[in-house]
Amino acid sequence: MRKALTILTIGVLVGLSAFCRKEDKEGQDSDGQQPTVVSSASATSHYSGKNCMSCHNGTDAFAFSIAGTLYDSTKTNVYVGGTVEIYTGSNGQGTLIVSLVSDKNGNFYTTEQVNLSSGVYPSVKNMHGMMMHMPQPTTSGACNSCHTQGGTAPPIWVP
Ligand code: HEC
Ligand code: HEC
Repeated sequence: MRKALTILTIGVLVGLSAFCRKEDKEGQDSDGQQPTVVSSASATSHYSGKNCMSCHNGTDAFAFSIAGTLYDSTKTNVYVGGTVEIYTGSNGQGTLIVSLVSDKNGNFYTTEQVNLSSGVYPSVKNMHGMMMHMPQPTTSGACNSCHTQGGTAPPIWVP
C-alpha cells in the first residue's frame, strides 16, 4: 500500500514537471529553445504550402504564432516580397497588429507572440500595394491549415 502510494506520488511529480516544462516552452524563451524568427524578402525557409504549425508547434520545432505561404495569381508559383497584414477590423480597417513580408520561398512567419484570440482579419498586399482581404476573422495563425491545394480554402494569393 505504502509502495503504491510512493509510486503514485512519483508519477504525479514526473507528470507535473513535464507539464511545467511544456508551460516554459509555450511561454517561449525561458528554456532558450525558442529563437526569434521573422520572415523577410531575403530570408529562406522550406515546405512552401504546407501547414508550418504541424511541426512548428513548440514541440517538434520552435513555435510560430503566424505562418503561411503567399502565391501569385497562378496559385502555384510562390510570391516573394508580398506583405501579410493582420488587422482588428475587416477590409484593412481598425488597428494593424502585425505586418510580415514573404521570403524567397513565398513564406511569411513570425515567432513573436500575437494575440489572435478575439478574431483578426488578414489582408495581403502585392509589391504594388494591391490588396486582398479575408472576409471573415480567424483565431488561428496557421494560415496553411486551411489555405492549401485541396484544403478548405484555396492557397493565399495576390493579384
Ligand atoms: C516536417 C516538419 C516541418 C514543417 C512542415 C515545417 N518546418 Fe520549418 N523547420 C523544421 C525544423 C525541425 C526546423 C529546425 C528547428 C530548429 O533549429 O530548432 C525548421 C526550421 C525552420 C526555419 C529556420 C529558422 C532559423 O533561422 O533557424 C524556418 C524559417 C522555418 N523552419 C520556416 C518554416 C515555414 C514557414 C514552414 C511552413 C511553410 C515550415 N517551416 C514548415 C520543421 C518543419
Ligand atoms: C479556419 C480556416 C482559415 C484560416 C486559419 C485562415 N483562413 Fe483565410 N480564408 C479562409 C476562407 C474559408 C476564405 C474564403 C475563401 C474564398 O473566398 O474562396 C479565406 C479568405 C482569405 C483571403 C481572401 C482570399 C480571396 O481570394 O479573396 C485572404 C487574403 C486570406 N484568407 C488570408 C489568410 C491569412 C494570411 C491567414 C493566416 C493569418 C488565414 N487566411 C487564415 C479560411 C481560413
